[in-house]
Amino acid sequence: MLSLRQAALALGLCSVLSQTWAIVLERPILEDFNTSLINSVAVLNCYLPSPPENETIQYELFKGTKSLGEYSAQHGEKGVFNLWVKDLSYDGNISCKASVQNNTDVKATESDTQSFRVIVPVEGAELRSNPSSGEVFEGRGLSLNCTLKQGTYVSYEWFLNGDSLNQSTELLVVQYVTLQDAGNYSCEARNEAYDPDEEMTMIYSTSSHRLVKVKAPVSKPNISFTVQREGDDYWAIVTCQSGRGTPPVTFSFHNQTLADLVSNETASLQATVRIPIILGQNMGEVQCKATNGGDLAVSDAMTLEVVPVGGVAKVRLEYEMGSYGKVLLHCDLERGTFPEIHWFLNGTELDSRGQFHKIQEQALKLTSITPSSTGFYHCEARDSFGTEKRIISEKKIIDRTVLDRVSVLAFAIVLSCLLFLMVLVTACCLYGAIHRRRLTPAKPRPIVLTEVVSMEDEDEEPEATEYMEDVELVEAAKIEDKDTSLTGEEGSVDEWPEIEKALQVNFMDEEPI
Ligand SMILES: *[C@@H]1O[C@H](CO)[C@@H](O)[C@H](O)[C@H]1NC(C)=O
Ligand SMILES: *[C@@H]1O[C@H](CO)[C@@H](O)[C@H](O)[C@H]1NC(C)=O
Ligand SMILES: *[C@@H]1O[C@H](CO)[C@@H](O)[C@H](O)[C@H]1NC(C)=O
Ligand SMILES: *[C@@H]1O[C@H](CO)[C@@H](O)[C@H](O)[C@H]1NC(C)=O
Ligand SMILES: *[C@@H]1O[C@H](CO)[C@@H](O)[C@H](O)[C@H]1NC(C)=O
Ligand SMILES: *[C@@H]1O[C@H](CO)[C@@H](O)[C@H](O)[C@H]1NC(C)=O
Ligand SMILES: *[C@@H]1O[C@H](CO)[C@@H](O)[C@H](O)[C@H]1NC(C)=O
Ligand SMILES: *[C@@H]1O[C@H](CO)[C@@H](O)[C@H](O)[C@H]1NC(C)=O
Ligand SMILES: *[C@@H]1O[C@H](CO)[C@@H](O)[C@H](O)[C@H]1NC(C)=O
Ligand SMILES: *[C@@H]1O[C@H](CO)[C@@H](O)[C@H](O)[C@H]1NC(C)=O
Ligand SMILES: *[C@@H]1O[C@H](CO)[C@@H](O)[C@H](O)[C@H]1NC(C)=O
Repeated sequence: MLSLRQAALALGLCSVLSQTWAIVLERPILEDFNTSLINSVAVLNCYLPSPPENETIQYELFKGTKSLGEYSAQHGEKGVFNLWVKDLSYDGNISCKASVQNNTDVKATESDTQSFRVIVPVEGAELRSNPSSGEVFEGRGLSLNCTLKQGTYVSYEWFLNGDSLNQSTELLVVQYVTLQDAGNYSCEARNEAYDPDEEMTMIYSTSSHRLVKVKAPVSKPNISFTVQREGDDYWAIVTCQSGRGTPPVTFSFHNQTLADLVSNETASLQATVRIPIILGQNMGEVQCKATNGGDLAVSDAMTLEVVPVGGVAKVRLEYEMGSYGKVLLHCDLERGTFPEIHWFLNGTELDSRGQFHKIQEQALKLTSITPSSTGFYHCEARDSFGTEKRIISEKKIIDRTVLDRVSVLAFAIVLSCLLFLMVLVTACCLYGAIHRRRLTPAKPRPIVLTEVVSMEDEDEEPEATEYMEDVELVEAAKIEDKDTSLTGEEGSVDEWPEIEKALQVNFMDEEPI
């Protein structure tokens, strides 16, 4: 058939040429129309830019190979399709085909494909979080999913405490949560459809709010105890305290055999238990654990042993470096876990703070030495949980001469260091000068700087410049300088304890009582 027709064409092309044969269709144009709401009628137009006259043009709409509709257009009119978009099967690439009706001889042409979006309005936005409780520990991950009952071609917007976040996908993921990520989250889903008049319809669905709590994990707790006395019974009040962590925190206490002593949930970051104890007896180790839902934080183990004050008490002197005249008196005890120290001057108890002193924990600090602060000091130790027992120290005299001696000694050390340095420097200079003079006549030294020339002239202050120019000399001086500073420092550091010792010996000697 085909070859016959071709043969006929070849034979008498010009003479037999009819109008029908001359028709060559252009490519049709599918009008730009890209979205439609589901369950609505979409009106699509397809046309040939210059349709052939006196011919009926058959337009057909396709999605892939599936025909969506046909339209016969006469007198150059457009092909019009009223599509009842009833389901998502219309969603996808569509194209339009044009042919001359009842004339298969004219080759049909096809338009470019266009994507056609079927919009299912968003509905039922809901926020789901992982972890689902909405409680997440610092440093852990958080993901929020904006789920919908329905909706196609959806875009998302996320809000935290009402502020828009820079996130447009259905999923909001925070890899490592910080306290700043806590708050009131919501998401908004939306899609948009254009109708034939190119009017946009925007559809929204907003989720309810989801409160995300960020919890700080509980930190390693400190364990400590105090002693309480009730008649003849003694109790250890063991306190477990964490520095950080979001309450409520559950604390549990364990003794050596790791049996639970108490476990309680507290709104604060500490918990306390009372454990009966016997004075002077090792009651074993106690440990506590804290958790607020995450990992367990475990304290160090603490030995429950209360030793009452006992043995000998001694007053030890310590001088504060760099501030002459300031003295610390320590009350050194042989025994005692919970001592309470009292200080006395000439037998009168001192308040925690006075004109010339301050009591710092177990030490007494003398801030100035005046006639009213000199005299005999002693300390007394008692058990802070109230027993009758008292340990009284020897008396120690503090007077002007003691402190003067400290000051003079300290001053002497500094002075001797300075003197030593000066002697060394002078020695260096002299050595340099002599060495130089001795060498000069024998062999002229290389001249390093131009000033050396003028320096050779004895009249011009030789020492300062000479010192700089002579490479060998400068080096020698450097080495010696180093030595000086080293010995100087060491000397001053080393000598202090010696002086202290000496002084303590002195005090003891002078002690009249
Ligand atoms: C759909 O058509 C509208 C109006 O012509 C246009 O504004 C919009 O960008 C189009 N969208 C897509 C995805 O092509
Ligand atoms: C179309 O038909 C009309 C009348 O029927 C005629 O006058 C005209 O020439 C035709 N045009 C062509 C291109 O054949
Ligand atoms: C639709 O056509 C575009 C190009 O025009 C192509 O990139 C896309 O993959 C097509 N989609 C489908 C579902 O065939
Ligand atoms: C095309 O052919 C069909 C039958 O095949 C006929 O019913 C119809 O009238 C024809 N149309 C024209 C425009 O000739
Ligand atoms: C979000 O939730 C939907 C519905 O439960 C689920 O199908 C989807 O897989 C989830 N997305 C992610 C990224 O988990
Ligand atoms: C939003 O995120 C994009 C990339 O994720 C980034 O380029 C842009 O700067 C961000 N804008 C703001 C306001 O954070
Ligand atoms: C979250 O925010 C919404 C609106 O901004 C408010 O109505 C709601 O009470 C907030 N929820 C909490 C727990 O703060
Ligand atoms: C725990 O003890 C350490 C050292 O004793 C101290 O620095 C820290 O402040 C204590 N923390 C708490 C919460 O008591
Ligand atoms: C836990 O502590 C509360 C008060 O903080 C107290 O009333 C309760 O009895 C305690 N529970 C246990 C098991 O100790
Ligand atoms: C440890 O606890 C158990 C049970 O509470 C108790 O029987 C035991 O005496 C305790 N051990 C010590 C050393 O306190
Ligand atoms: C303490 O007693 C000594 C010796 O009796 C005396 O020299 C000193 O002034 C007294 N100090 C005070 C503050 O009374």
